[in-house]
Amino acid sequence: MKIAVPREIRAGETRVALDPESCKKLVQLGVEVAVETGAGSAANFLDRAYQEAGATLVADPASLLASAGFVLKVNAPQARPDGTHEADLIPEGALLLASLFPTRNLEAVKRLAERKVTAFSTDCIPRTTRAQAMDTLSSQANIVGYKGVLLGALELPKYYPMFMTAAGTTLPAKVFVIGAGVAGLQAIATAKRLGASVTATDVRPEVKEQIESVGGKYVGIDLKQGASAGGGYAAELSAEDKALQAKLLAEHCATVDVVITTALIGGVFAPKLLDETIVKSMKPGSVVIDLGADGGGNCALSKLGETVVVNGVKIVAPLNLPATVPTHASMLFARNLLNFMTAFWDKEGKRFHLDWADDILKGCAVTHEGKVVHGPTLKALDQAQGGKA
Ligand code: NAI
Repeated sequence: MKIAVPREIRAGETRVALDPESCKKLVQLGVEVAVETGAGSAANFLDRAYQEAGATLVADPASLLASAGFVLKVNAPQARPDGTHEADLIPEGALLLASLFPTRNLEAVKRLAERKVTAFSTDCIPRTTRAQAMDTLSSQANIVGYKGVLLGALELPKYYPMFMTAAGTTLPAKVFVIGAGVAGLQAIATAKRLGASVTATDVRPEVKEQIESVGGKYVGIDLKQGASAGGGYAAELSAEDKALQAKLLAEHCATVDVVITTALIGGVFAPKLLDETIVKSMKPGSVVIDLGADGGGNCALSKLGETVVVNGVKIVAPLNLPATVPTHASMLFARNLLNFMTAFWDKEGKRFHLDWADDILKGCAVTHEGKVVHGPTLKALDQAQGGKA
């Protein structure tokens, strides 16, 4: 079985699904790997390094994919500039492993099903201990939290740390992190390391200790119903709890310099937590870094992928932050894919073992034998068709 790694064509994407180090490990498993020429160049991985790792280089993406038994990608297949679609270049019956975000990429999912591709999405891998090493949501969210804090430091007209100088002392900036999952905890730790005074909140009560363990101070509300959806995911708040949270956010945001939002529902969609009233209550010169932008944004005033200023408050809503750290983002993404491949690789038969009894494999399968087999994606497709499916 040949594994193919095409160059990513999503606008602004710099990551690659396989770095030379993980490529070498796949080759050592007895896998034949082919990489599109230049696939790793934006992440600083040279073609030569892939060749040294044992891969062959193929210049034309259509020929690369035509010979593939298994395709490794970062993003869901996209329309190509020449009018064709990446999904239509994958051979019928081949396998695909990528971060598909299937509920956001229904067109790609439909095409993959039509092509009878068996597609697995790394962002749908169940949150179990065994699956942690395969979880691209975590490896990439860590980068988002780190980079978000740095963006805040660049935009803030103040220092993060306290400085005692001959001219006087500056107080530490106050950073407030909303949502304390993987991205949020990394944001707290990074802001703390840079000397800020950090507070954080979440709707899952179990995170209080985690916030404190990375140096943040927990700011909580006693929600009436709570919002743990199980498996580490949060559900949407009830109307009553939303009102309680809005009151807390209005009071607290008015006192801080930087608000970093990372809240997601079900790991995919960003709830709107900061409305115009909250933003207008903030001090001029303060900054909102909306890290929920990829999921639609946590701030109602965010312009996705842009920076806007409202009443002297700068609102930054960056898209695809992992692509701004492409070397490490690709390296970690590739390790996640390698761990997945290794777990199901049949060394003797030199093939990928489709073990449908395995909870990880079953949990992240999106399409198989011409059908969409992922519950939330089926629901999203149904909704997109007005519930007529
Ligand atoms: P996520 O990306 O689903 O959501 C981000 C955060 O936003 C969560 O902490 C969520 O509770 C919070 N949130 C949602 N609505 C909110 C609101 N209205 N206000 C404030 N916060 C809100 O979460 P992420 O980063 O994926 O992690 C969630 C948990 O799952 C963590 O404890 C993480 O360690 C765990 N996890 C475990 C994995 C595994 O065991 N394989 C893999 C990935 C995560």
